Amino acid sequence: MCGIVAYVGHRDASEVIIKGLKRLEYRGYDSAGIALLNGELNVYKKKGKVSDLEDALKGKNLDSHIGIGHTRWATHGEPNDVNAHPHYSSSKKLAIIHNGIIENYSSLKKDLLNKGHKFSSETDTEVLIHFIEDIQSNNDCTLEEAVRLALTQVIGAYAIVIMSKEDPNLLIAARKGSPLVVGIGKDEFFMASDATPIIEYTNEVVYLNDQEIAIVNDGKLRIKTTEDVPMTPYIHKLEMELEAIEKGGFDHFMLKEIFEQPKSISDCLRGRLDSKSGRLVLGGIREYANKLVNADRIMIVACGTSWHAGLVAEYMFEEFCRIPVEVEYASEFRYRNPVIREGDVVIAISQSGETADTLAAIDLAKSKGAIIFGVCNVVGSSIARASHEGSYTHAGPEIGVASTKAFTAQLTVLSMISLIVAQKKGTITERKFHELLVELETIPEKVEQVLKLNDTIKEIAWTFKDATNFLYLGRGYNFPVALEGALKLKEISYIHAEGYPAAEMKHGPIALIDQEMPVVFIATRDSSYEKIVSNIQEVKARKGRVISVVTEGDDLIPKMSEFVIEVPAVQESLMPMVSVIPLQLLSYHIAVMRGCNVDQPRNLAKSVTVE
Ligand code: G6P
Repeated sequence: MCGIVAYVGHRDASEVIIKGLKRLEYRGYDSAGIALLNGELNVYKKKGKVSDLEDALKGKNLDSHIGIGHTRWATHGEPNDVNAHPHYSSSKKLAIIHNGIIENYSSLKKDLLNKGHKFSSETDTEVLIHFIEDIQSNNDCTLEEAVRLALTQVIGAYAIVIMSKEDPNLLIAARKGSPLVVGIGKDEFFMASDATPIIEYTNEVVYLNDQEIAIVNDGKLRIKTTEDVPMTPYIHKLEMELEAIEKGGFDHFMLKEIFEQPKSISDCLRGRLDSKSGRLVLGGIREYANKLVNADRIMIVACGTSWHAGLVAEYMFEEFCRIPVEVEYASEFRYRNPVIREGDVVIAISQSGETADTLAAIDLAKSKGAIIFGVCNVVGSSIARASHEGSYTHAGPEIGVASTKAFTAQLTVLSMISLIVAQKKGTITERKFHELLVELETIPEKVEQVLKLNDTIKEIAWTFKDATNFLYLGRGYNFPVALEGALKLKEISYIHAEGYPAAEMKHGPIALIDQEMPVVFIATRDSSYEKIVSNIQEVKARKGRVISVVTEGDDLIPKMSEFVIEVPAVQESLMPMVSVIPLQLLSYHIAVMRGCNVDQPRNLAKSVTVE
């Protein structure tokens, strides 16, 4: 979703900003723009990629030590040059970039139109900067004060940065609901939607909190609230390495991230699990651990791939901990007046930690007295900070829009949480607990083994690259994997795909099956093995083209399948971490063969910071 980069300091601002915008490309966007100050406040913006903006900048005087840049993911107004950010104020003395939605923009716009303001775009953002300028001239106050007053009247979510023609050393930023990080260098400051554009310059950052305004002026950073209360900035030290956000020899981030999974799962387990001593500890779950153990039920809120991880967790918590679990789409949960009682337990799962619906679901649950456990990948993210306790997945930055390593790391953390709770509750035998610890430790090498099948999977991809539909079927723990496999294919190859519980197929999708229809069965050896064998027969009988993911050594299902992918044997509850890998690779190769932009699929955003 929209990306923000701003810079003030001794470097060439346009270089820092364009490079930063490229680092943010992974968030998903449809246009890009930049404002620079060299006597004039110049705004350049273009529909399309950052490279299109670069082309448009050729031959322009870009000499400036201050600037703001933006990648836009359209919400109000179609993606075009005019609606792209930055936006000027009425006098063209101010420019703004914005991520989020100003919900009361139409009433603000009406008042401003009555006062004679003219707007060139259809965006809510342009209304905000006109509003700020209007307040400044009516109150004869500083820009800082006008921004603050405006924000007290704005309804909605925002991360904004504003610069002014009148002041070549001033950047004003603010946030509510959308992320914003301030990087502190030596005599220079950076602002960005996340730390990726910043880390090559400094590892010292301040995460702005909701309702806070950051003012960088004459080489100093001040922070205050929209209520005008000064705040002391808390400086975090980033631990992220630059290589972690570069492709490292792979053609795409997605492929790199798929291949990183043995490492990301190990990183997630490191220091937390030791099967020899039977030690399993999550440092982030302490004070509230008993709330989980004594919970009457657990609600899991998430979106997209994280929601699929939540479904796997439901199976684990119910099996091992005997606690009823409800897995909710955050966007539905927050608007359907859910029954939440004081002390209820909510687990929020989010790779980015910034998904607006998940954050709002947390706020709702908290307001009713629920205890929130966050499972996030991005350290310091809004959801991590809004949670009472939680565990990071430590998968490292995930840049490919289609989530891969974050999913397996989420499953790793969720399985550890369920085992800790089950042990404390006494709902798991010591033997089973120990078996699962040993098994968890072997997952990285089993994933490694599956990755060796890359070439085989590529061949399967070649056979089916022109398919128009796909069906993914699984049962039990492999049902969420079927959903995830279908989602991966849709996201990056634009082939229509459905994931379904294999038995439920008879109640609808079976009507779609003919000799053209590829049907991917995730049919590893588990408690529903015999049942899924029957489902495969049902598809075969209707001439569907069967691709099966099976456990090594299976000699039955291969006879019924056109293509077989063998994965190592794994305990049923941990199988999703392994059985999802071939599906990630299959969608990746199909998308590449179809010429799709794998890392930045159309219309999708990595971090969905608007509802
Ligand atoms: C977007 C991303 C998905 C992700 C979902 C939830 O749709 O493209 O990959 O699963 O948001 O994001 P989160 O960061 O909350 O896990």
